[in-house]
Amino acid sequence: MNIAVIGTGYVGLVTGTCFAETGNSVVCVDIDAAKVAAMQAGKIPIYEPHLDVLFERNISEGRLTFTTDLAEAVEKAHVIFLALPTPPGEDGSADLSYVLGVADELGRIIRDYKVIVDKSTVPVGTAERVHAAVGAHAQVAFDIVSNPEFLREGYAVDDFMKPDRVVIGCSSERARKVMEELYRPFVRQGNPILFMDERSAELTKYAANAFLATKITFMNEIANFCERVGADVDLVRRGIGSDTRIGSRFLFPGIGYGGSCFPKDVQALHRSGKEQGFDFHILGSVMEVNERQKTILFEPLLAHFKGNLSGVRVAVWGLAFKPETDDIREAPALYMIEKLLEAGAEVVAFDPEAMDNVRGRIGDRIAYTDRPLDALTGADALVICTEWQVFRNPDFTEMARRLNQPVVFDGRNLYDLDRMQELGFTYTSIGRRPIVA
Ligand SMILES: NC(=O)c1ccc[n+]([C@@H]2O[C@H](COP(=O)([O-])OP(=O)(O)OC[C@H]3O[C@@H](n4cnc5c(N)ncnc54)[C@H](O)[C@@H]3O)[C@@H](O)[C@H]2O)c1
Repeated sequence: MNIAVIGTGYVGLVTGTCFAETGNSVVCVDIDAAKVAAMQAGKIPIYEPHLDVLFERNISEGRLTFTTDLAEAVEKAHVIFLALPTPPGEDGSADLSYVLGVADELGRIIRDYKVIVDKSTVPVGTAERVHAAVGAHAQVAFDIVSNPEFLREGYAVDDFMKPDRVVIGCSSERARKVMEELYRPFVRQGNPILFMDERSAELTKYAANAFLATKITFMNEIANFCERVGADVDLVRRGIGSDTRIGSRFLFPGIGYGGSCFPKDVQALHRSGKEQGFDFHILGSVMEVNERQKTILFEPLLAHFKGNLSGVRVAVWGLAFKPETDDIREAPALYMIEKLLEAGAEVVAFDPEAMDNVRGRIGDRIAYTDRPLDALTGADALVICTEWQVFRNPDFTEMARRLNQPVVFDGRNLYDLDRMQELGFTYTSIGRRPIVA
């Protein structure tokens, strides 16, 4: 099948590449000319494990191409995927200008029947608005489908190739057949394609992200309370996670959720509620708790240095909002760094993949090192913000040797408390007893 994917970010590029991998002919469109030129030259613009192999193979076999020309891309396409940004607007609602702008253009361009599929995360009712925007100018038949994406950055290829489920909101039999054919190769193990109306599909995506953000936040509050009452959140986590009604995933406490999805989607759903005169109490609390959680290690760090961070050198391990991605959107590390800088600290950071993106954002306001241990040389404390594998079992002796004092603030609970005590570290983590050397 001929496919056009509009927008080549984390979702569009993975979608396009994976559809090409199953034999379709895919043209990816982006307005970012430099990005398109780089992809045409075979350069992948994001770090996403395993994507590079598929990307290169499908380019070299001629099934995956890139352009800035929307009209050229959609001319032969049977299906057009919209993988466009839906960032928060000023009031927190999803900004639909990218999606509706492209819908308007499509209405003027299309010359034969198209299935137009919305893969962006959009509020309930957007399919109808996209239909109206395309229909304002289109002279031919078309269908609008809502097909929210559930991939996780860091596991995006796996999630796309073997999805837990595919959700398709669609009221046209013709479009449904096209979508079924397209997704059949991905659901051979019996994972379901769930067909539903467009509104339910749109809400499913928000409900999923809001639920996951709530689960993380609930656990973060339990962790904070553990500290108050002298309980150990790791034990509590195992105690509740073994209950199959609760499940063990997404129960790890830390310095809050970030990324391009949870923060904006929780905010947008909360805002959608307001527009309907409906108060999503739970989401209001989730946002409030998460906001505090991102810098929860700042106070104990400040207290350790007796309220004065002027000239204190702090090493930060992990900048990406989570491991296995270079995405720094809403990354808790950046909030923590901002607070440290404001308080007069010097920051030196290491991240395996995200340093270029951080350099692009905050430049030389902080220093960067190519190896994790190098960040510790001459630093007064280490703060861990992202749980990259490489941080899980470091050379503790060398860490203690390089740091001015062996002081670690761990926002991801990577290390065993007894071990840190034996090694002589002063170690503060989330929801567990502090270790004081
Ligand atoms: N990132 C994720 O993990 C994830 C997962 C599920 C759903 N989503 C949703 O998918 C959508 C896309 O997210 P993303 O993270 O891939 O976004 P992104 O910001 O990484 O990429 C969007 C791309 O669209 C391009 N673009 C903007 N306007 C354009 C236009 N008029 N024509 C062509 N290209 C245009 C941008 O240049 C950019 O390359 C959002 O609604 C997001 O909420 C994201």
